[in-house]
Amino acid sequence: MNVKDSEIIIQTKKLSKSFPGVKALSDFSFELYQGEIHCLVGENGAGKSTFIKLLTGALHPDSGEIIFNGKSFPALDPHTAQALGIQVIYQENILVNQMSVAENIFVGCEKTNRFGLIDYKAIFGEAQKIIDSLGIHLAPKALVESLSTADQQFVKIIKALALNPKVLIMDEPTTMFNAKDAEKVLKLVRDITTQGISVIYISHNLKEVSQIADRITVLRDGQFVNCHNNEDKNVDLNVITKEMVGRPVSIFYEREKSEIGDVILEVENLKLTRSSTPINFQLRRGEILGIAGMVGAGRTEIVRAIFGADKKVGGTLVYKGKRVNPRNPAEAIKLGIGMITEDRQKTGLVLSMNIIENTTLVGLNKFGRIILKLKKEAQAVWNFVEKLNIKTPSLRKEVQFLSGGNQQKTVLAKWLYKDIDVLIFDEPTRGIDVNSKTEIYKLMSQLVKNGKSIIMISSDLIELIAMSDRVLVVRNGAISSEIQGEQITEKNIIANAIEVN
Ligand SMILES: Nc1ncnc2c1ncn2[C@@H]1O[C@H](COP(=O)(O)OP(=O)(O)OP(=O)(O)O)[C@@H](O)[C@H]1O
Ligand SMILES: [Mg+2]
Repeated sequence: MNVKDSEIIIQTKKLSKSFPGVKALSDFSFELYQGEIHCLVGENGAGKSTFIKLLTGALHPDSGEIIFNGKSFPALDPHTAQALGIQVIYQENILVNQMSVAENIFVGCEKTNRFGLIDYKAIFGEAQKIIDSLGIHLAPKALVESLSTADQQFVKIIKALALNPKVLIMDEPTTMFNAKDAEKVLKLVRDITTQGISVIYISHNLKEVSQIADRITVLRDGQFVNCHNNEDKNVDLNVITKEMVGRPVSIFYEREKSEIGDVILEVENLKLTRSSTPINFQLRRGEILGIAGMVGAGRTEIVRAIFGADKKVGGTLVYKGKRVNPRNPAEAIKLGIGMITEDRQKTGLVLSMNIIENTTLVGLNKFGRIILKLKKEAQAVWNFVEKLNIKTPSLRKEVQFLSGGNQQKTVLAKWLYKDIDVLIFDEPTRGIDVNSKTEIYKLMSQLVKNGKSIIMISSDLIELIAMSDRVLVVRNGAISSEIQGEQITEKNIIANAIEVN
């Protein structure tokens, strides 16, 4: 589309927003045309989510103005933003698991019949209409808890669309998806813009951004850097990354392989349920073992059982030559097995504690508990903050005030800080910007070079292929194949990951 031929729906002029110690957004001017897909990119902490919160009325700007359809507002509140037709899909958007798809879509605006009761026939019918118009398969009566993560994400999108928005804002909508489902979301986004809806789309997946955006705005340190026209879908990503980071960075990482030693961990006949297929594999010192598979195939469940976070029905673990049976994460950590969980909000961090407290939470014994050594501890934490480029005014900042990506980096710092032999990473770079991803890869490479071992689950195949010495593909809760060396290709992984009916 030629965006400039259509009307401007949202314009912001010199929007600014500060928090104690941080200027999150400075004099940010932006334009959104009707029917365009406008992507926002920038490093973790660049101010993307802050900008969105100003548009949805969750935050008020310190200065500047928001012009919606020609009408100027010094600030919006959530009610006005909704009434204007601004809808946002956050990653954490909560659905009610025990309710059906249709009920979730219409919750809060239930249609009632003449007896004042919820008119189920109407909501099921209405939901079906929207689902059909989008060309996806979803049963309106299905319970949300029975759906895959991808389908749940679709419900969130439909829920927003049911309110007839003029502007749909998506903050990292595809990070939970594998490539195939992400493609479906992208198609859906393209389809809705043909109906005249404008989309603001935030993503750290720059390849995806280049495929979908009509225009791309780059933010750095809360400031506008550039706005690129991408109607021909041929933007130069090297230019974008350079503008994001301030210097050239590659989106590809090449790992230097290290020497692989003896077996450190052996998983024998691990069973997660009575009827599940037993799982067997070995992990060696100095090795990065990748685990691939579709979201929901059982990758997380396998590693959680090893880490003692979930019960197992049967099987043994042999660790450093001895049979072990960690019954909970604390026991696993004591043995020297650590895990970085998939969802940082619930299990990875204590949000009300600061960065030092969070990072040292699992590594308390490193310098002993003596107060005098606290300075040394702060120094060690600071080293990781610098290496991972965690954007924060101080180490004493409570992590709930950090941006999404910076919270994820704090989880990583917490584990890298502890001297541990086997590290399990579940989607370690989810929500992390391109520059910091490279830093994380370097730290992982360094760890295995020093003889540590890593198990890494990732839906990002490029990352998995670049980092893994060996890949286990999980399908239907079982290992469907083991791929090594030159055989680790996207094609081979996908072929083994997809269900055959
Ligand atoms: N409520 C808050 N209190 C204090 N500081 C905040 C608050 N919200 C955001 N910040 C700070 O504002 C800056 C911008 O954060 P923002 O969440 O907008 O970044 P982002 O671009 O969305 O990053 P990410 O890619 O990691 O999601 C960060 O330095 C962050 O720590
Ligand atoms: Mg954000």
